[in-house]
This record gives sequence, structure tokens and C-alpha cells, in this order.
Amino acid sequence: MSPVTTTLIAIATVLNILACGWLIWVTARRKPGEVAEGAVKDHVWDGDLRERNNPLPRWWLILFFLTMLFGLGYLLLYPGVGRGALGWTEDRQYREELARADREYAPVYATFAGRSVLELSRDPKALALGRSLFATNCINCHGSDARGGPGFPDLTDNDWLYGGTPEDIVKSITFGREGTMPPLGTVLGAEGVDEVVAYVRSLSGHAAPPDKVAAGKARFALCAACHGVDAKGNPAIGSKNLTDDIWLYGGSEATLRKTISEGRHGKMPAHAWLGDDKIRLLAAYVYSLSHPQ
Ligand code: HEC
Ligand code: HEC
Repeated sequence: MSPVTTTLIAIATVLNILACGWLIWVTARRKPGEVAEGAVKDHVWDGDLRERNNPLPRWWLILFFLTMLFGLGYLLLYPGVGRGALGWTEDRQYREELARADREYAPVYATFAGRSVLELSRDPKALALGRSLFATNCINCHGSDARGGPGFPDLTDNDWLYGGTPEDIVKSITFGREGTMPPLGTVLGAEGVDEVVAYVRSLSGHAAPPDKVAAGKARFALCAACHGVDAKGNPAIGSKNLTDDIWLYGGSEATLRKTISEGRHGKMPAHAWLGDDKIRLLAAYVYSLSHPQ
């Protein structure tokens, strides 16, 4: 929130509390011409209903004042008017909780320290921990079953953009990855894109008009620099293998046309902040998905 909004809300809150006090004070005052306390008032409803001039019950008044006091105290202790006497912030609370969790779990992680990812991938306890780390940090992109979705790679199929050795996986998680497929619509023209699409589909066994496939194959020189002459991809830059009928964005004609004309830009964020121990447990879990025992 902007400082202006915060100030306005603080002023409104203080005014509200003051208004409550004022309301009580005004209603508790004896008005001119009012009958004595406890006496019957002079108006009558429904022919015989009368009312005494009784003050508000004391317990109710006390509760009311306590609520106002609580409001004022809260306003002074927590960020309301200024920063609050306790110095509490959401961010600090979060950091303290993280530090507490780190202290609590450090001995658990320590039991796995110094063991290789491959070794960890065969240890059910390490895998259980890896799975829960995955659930916390990775499923929003890769899915709870790690099968991904359009733009987010399936981590269970042993088909890799950047390589699937334990070292490759650790690197993907630690430093993140970024793949850029350039937009080639203007270079190829609509017809050129159609031809290349036909060729790419033919590589994984889909039916396509032979003349278009041949024309597309000739144009593939443009793509070979990144995807390789054999179209099997290059793990150094994460260019997809285009021959295995496994797709990151999709293999339909329409999707391929979009990918090739407009380009794609997949980004896996770096997770170095998780620390080495957690990353190795995560890598072991990911590795185990495509290498079941
Ligand atoms: C914000 C979304 C996002 C999050 C969070 C995320 N990833 Fe990724 N990840 C991606 C994308 C997108 C790619 C593919 C990058 C590309 O297209 O070049 C990827 C790629 C990968 C790869 C490489 C796959 C291959 O085929 O080589 C691995 C391994 C991986 N992620 C593991 C993880 C793990 C483990 C976590 C949790 C610590 C995680 N990711 C969290 C989006 C995410
Ligand atoms: C500069 C390098 C480069 C060139 C040139 C290039 N690509 Fe790509 N391509 C990539 C990368 C990197 C990716 C992965 C993008 C990502 O991870 O988001 C990719 C992804 C793709 C995909 C997506 C595959 C899927 O699984 O959804 C297709 C299809 C594709 N390229 C086809 C082509 C074709 C056809 C050409 C030539 C007309 C071409 N590319 C030229 C680097 C390149």
C-alpha cells in the first residue's frame, strides 16, 4: 500500500475510535428536561408500554471501553500509526519462521549430506523428503505428478531438454534454464512455415504431404544450427529433439505453426537459494521419476 493510503486508513481508524468515545459520552449525559435515573419516562407506546430511564449496564460499558483500549493498543503496537512499537512486519515473521524451520530440519538434511544424487535416488527416505520439497517448490509449474504441461517439461519421461544425468539435473535446478526459439515467421513466410511444419511432423511419423515435406526438409538448414542436422536437439541450448513425438508446446499443425512463426521462450528460474542439500534431494527425486527401481 502507498504511504498516502496507509495514512488515510490510520486517520480514519483513530477518528472512529474517538467517535465511539464521543458517542458514549453524549448518550450518558443527562439531557435537559429528562426524568431522574430509574424513574418512569413520560411517553407511552401501544396504550400501556412504558419505559424507565435506566443507564447502560455497567458491564456492557466496561466491555465497550476495553474494546476501544484494545483498538488503541493494537494500533500503537502493530503497524497502524507509524511502524508499531513491536517492530513487527510480515517479512520479519516469515524470515524468523524460515530460520526456525532451518534449525529444526538441519539435522534431518545432515543425515543425507555428502551422499551422491545417484545414491540418494535409491534411498526411500531421501526420496520422500525430495518429494515434499518438490511439492513445496516445483508443482506450481511442473504439476503435482511432475508431468508438466504446455511450456513446462514433463520430468518423468526421460526425455530431456538439457540432459538427464544427475549432474545435469542439479545444474538445471541450481542455475535455472532459459530456452529461446526465435520467431521465424517473417524469415520463412507463410508458405515456408507450412512446409517446415510438414517436415517437422513427418520426423515423428505423422502423415504430411510429400511435396511439402521435401520443401520443408530443404528449409531445415535454417533450423539445423540449433536443432542439429538430425533434428535431435542440442542439450547445451535446450533446443528440443523434434523427432521423438514428445512435445513441450505441442505437436499439432496449429501449435507448430505458432511456435515456428512467433518463437518461444521457456524459463526455469534458478533455485540456488534452496541450498546444496535440498537441491541434491530434489535432483534425486526428479531422477528417480524416470529411473524407477
Ligand atoms: C516458474 C515455473 C517453474 C518452477 C517453479 C520450476 N520450474 Fe523447472 N522448468 C520450468 C520451465 C519453463 C522449464 C523449461 C525451460 C525451457 O523451456 O528451456 C523447466 C525445466 C526444468 C528442468 C529441465 C528439464 C529438461 O528437460 O532438461 C528440470 C530438471 C526442472 N525444471 C526441475 C525443476 C525443479 C526440481 C523445480 C523445483 C525446485 C522446478 N523445476 C521449478 C519452469 C519451472
Ligand atoms: C537459435 C536457435 C534455434 C533456431 C534457429 C531454431 N530453433 Fe526451434 N527451438 C530452439 C530452442 C532453444 C527451443 C526450446 C524453446 C523453449 O525451451 O522454450 C526450440 C523449440 C522448438 C520447437 C518446440 C518443440 C516442442 O516440443 O514444442 C519447435 C517445433 C521448433 N523449435 C522448431 C524449429 C524449426 C522448425 C526451426 C527452423 C525453422 C527452428 N526451430 C529454429 C532453438 C532454435
